[in-house]
Amino acid sequence: MYDQDNPTAVEVGTDPRLPTIVKPTRYDLRLEPNLPAANFSGEETIAIEVERATDQIVLHALELEILEAEAARGATRLQGKVEFVPALEQARLRFDHALEPGGWTLRLRFKGILNDKLHGFYRSQYRDPAGAEHLIASTQFEATDARRAFPCWDEPAFKARFKVTLVVAPGLTAISNAGVESERKLPDGRQEVVFRDSIPMSTYLVAFIVGEFVATAPVDAGTPLRVVHVPGKQALTGWALQIGAFSLKFFANYYGLPYPGDKLDLIAIPDFASGAMENLGAITFRETALLIDDRQASRAELERVADVVSHENAHMWFGDLVTMQWWNGIWLNEAFATFMEMLAVDAWKPHWRRWESFALSRGSAMAIDGLSSTRSIEYPVRTAEDARAMFDVLTYEKGAAVLRMLEQYLGAEEFRKGIALYLRRHEYGNTETGDLWDALQESSREPVRSLMDSWIFQPGFPIVEAAKTADGKGLRLSQRRFFYLPQADAEPQRWHIPVMVRVRTADGAVNHKLLMDAAEAKLDAGEPFTWALVNEGGHGFYRVSYAPELLAALTHSLGELKPTERFGLMSDSWVATVAGLKPVDEFLAFARRFSTETDLNVWRALAGAFNYLDLIVDDRERAEFASAVRSVAGPAFERMGWEPKPGEDELTRQLRGTLANISGTLGEDPGIQRQAVALYERARKDPASVDRDVMPALVAIVGHSGDAARYAEFKQNFKSAQTPQGEQRYLFALAAFTRPELLRETMAMTLNGEVRTQNAPYLMHALLVNRACRYEAWDFMRRNWDQMTAKFPDAALPRMCEGVTVLLDRESEVREFFATHRVRLGGKLIDQHLERLAVAVAFREREGARLSAALREKPSPNV
Ligand code: BES
Ligand code: ZN
Repeated sequence: MYDQDNPTAVEVGTDPRLPTIVKPTRYDLRLEPNLPAANFSGEETIAIEVERATDQIVLHALELEILEAEAARGATRLQGKVEFVPALEQARLRFDHALEPGGWTLRLRFKGILNDKLHGFYRSQYRDPAGAEHLIASTQFEATDARRAFPCWDEPAFKARFKVTLVVAPGLTAISNAGVESERKLPDGRQEVVFRDSIPMSTYLVAFIVGEFVATAPVDAGTPLRVVHVPGKQALTGWALQIGAFSLKFFANYYGLPYPGDKLDLIAIPDFASGAMENLGAITFRETALLIDDRQASRAELERVADVVSHENAHMWFGDLVTMQWWNGIWLNEAFATFMEMLAVDAWKPHWRRWESFALSRGSAMAIDGLSSTRSIEYPVRTAEDARAMFDVLTYEKGAAVLRMLEQYLGAEEFRKGIALYLRRHEYGNTETGDLWDALQESSREPVRSLMDSWIFQPGFPIVEAAKTADGKGLRLSQRRFFYLPQADAEPQRWHIPVMVRVRTADGAVNHKLLMDAAEAKLDAGEPFTWALVNEGGHGFYRVSYAPELLAALTHSLGELKPTERFGLMSDSWVATVAGLKPVDEFLAFARRFSTETDLNVWRALAGAFNYLDLIVDDRERAEFASAVRSVAGPAFERMGWEPKPGEDELTRQLRGTLANISGTLGEDPGIQRQAVALYERARKDPASVDRDVMPALVAIVGHSGDAARYAEFKQNFKSAQTPQGEQRYLFALAAFTRPELLRETMAMTLNGEVRTQNAPYLMHALLVNRACRYEAWDFMRRNWDQMTAKFPDAALPRMCEGVTVLLDRESEVREFFATHRVRLGGKLIDQHLERLAVAVAFREREGARLSAALREKPSPNV
């Protein structure tokens, strides 16, 4: 028997991994989805290579019925008996005679369901403007759900060609990975669409999409590129086509390899579990990540679409053409796609300074990686659940950040050459992390492997302490692992840290570079200096702690620092506060120096700190806290005003919205709240009268102080929105009101069918982190747990549960809940959520009194 509680059991017949003595090389796959009946039937002929004689073939199948299995070679026909092993998601075909080594064909007939959990082959629906319901069938196979659509070798290393045929009802469009080869009408009136062979690829990249879709005319991006959507959304496709074409050409050029497919469709699906999925040639998206009105959307929304399209396009090479051997190496896909996404968007819109805002993502990875329950980037995976748990900030953001660190250390062109070599060498194949280091090391002649192993195979990251040397001409540096909660018995760890330092001497600023691989190091600047900035450029995946005299010198020279450097100072200082390395009153005094700050990202870092404090402070201190927020953000907003200035750049426009939002919600500024209502009313009559980057702030502020009438209005706006972004904006605003009775209505919406299951878990998350209703939301989630886990897509549950990290008054209850419910999030996610909660509780216990005192004190004037 397979022991569910012991996923490491490996006796024969208990392994979730497939034997490798039989390998598929080509699938000829025919599927007949019946949308109204929510099921499908299928037939496949798989060309296989048998390496050793066997009377048994093991492959993956889940929620499928296999009607017939036959192995054939020449005139030999062997009928297989089918046995399912549900715990392993496998089917075994047993034959009376052994299949001798060599090539065979395996023919299977099967049936399955179009489920509503947004994985495998699933159904989606939408209502047209006239109110009629329409059905769609679509697929989401990564990581391990191709097995729900057809019996297959559902592991990334079993690459094969796929020839797909879809039989669909008249009037429906069918799309798959490759272009259409032929099409004909069957005697029963249905349409048979035959697609060309795909390149050799992994099962998780196969896709079938069926519905009443409309496609834009193809644009030439080195391959014909289209955006595909449900009818009526043509006007929302231009932006994705632009970044789609730009990024495809950018990547073909960067990688030095042409696009590997024969066409590319970017397809918006009304129900979609994650943001987007890189099926080769048929990338699927949730609508908010693809369709956008570029004349009205905010810059942040436009950037989101650009990011996602660019990310998925990057995968056509990184992931699709060259694929990790197994899920432990998923960072090779996702970290790279994230890195390349930034690179292409940065090249497309340099004035967005995309790498600077990436600092926020780096910070979110460090927030998890500073926990003792973190994991290394590469991490063992056995089961499907383990694989799912790998799609987290450590894989994406930490992975991308350490790549950026390496790229900056090697130089952009050296790095690119290594990447191009790696892709060329492994095209159509599978790789391990070491293959990447080999290529980079070969082309750059630098010790890439030893440098990177310390980042990929070790959990956590270092904090670098810096002090002036006795002669005043250098820095003494030391490294140790950073922890939010003190770990008495932690093993000492070392990283190979490329340390970049900018030193201000009498002659100006000079950069120094040092590869620190020991516990301590000395950097000699050669002459006395006024200040020294460690982690210059902010590309390093580490935190810096300065000795008091160094910090004071920097704090008094903020004007000489670049925005990324101020960002680093601000976020290192905040993180040190949360970790107990610096008292909170000191942080507040430090934050007050930033009221003249003009950089968007620095403000976003500060807003993150305020948001955290908002969930820590007691109700009785809420007014003092708001006043402290106003004292920092207020003057900055006053300087900007509501109206954009001529010649202002896009980031500054966005900053205006951010500052208004902070002041009007966390800061409870009554003047700003009143003005926001007035402007919002004006925008209702004349949308063009309010800046696109101010509008999201108006919605947030108006909702924050809104009553039942406003709630009803927002709900109506959500339902009648003309764009995915409008719909999303008003939906999430319904979780940001402050009156409990209104928030209760939003809670109900997560389950009553008014909100798609693709959004409900995120909405629940938003309710859990709203201080006005967090504990009630927690009770609601616990009460409805079984229903939620049954309905919501598994992929979104970790995000929903992340909301428990702010339930400070219910820590023991939260622990008990996760101890007694088998919450299958996989990996270490639950432990991480619980530890984050413990960090917040410890912070409040440690700093509470100091925080109250600091809030009651009148802020000292800026000096
Ligand atoms: N490969 C992922 C989609 C995915 C995520 C599949 C989790 C299975 C499990 C895709 O390339 C991706 O990373 N999508 C992101 C968006 C991206 C811009 C970071 C997503 O869906 O959030
Ligand atoms: Zn990805």
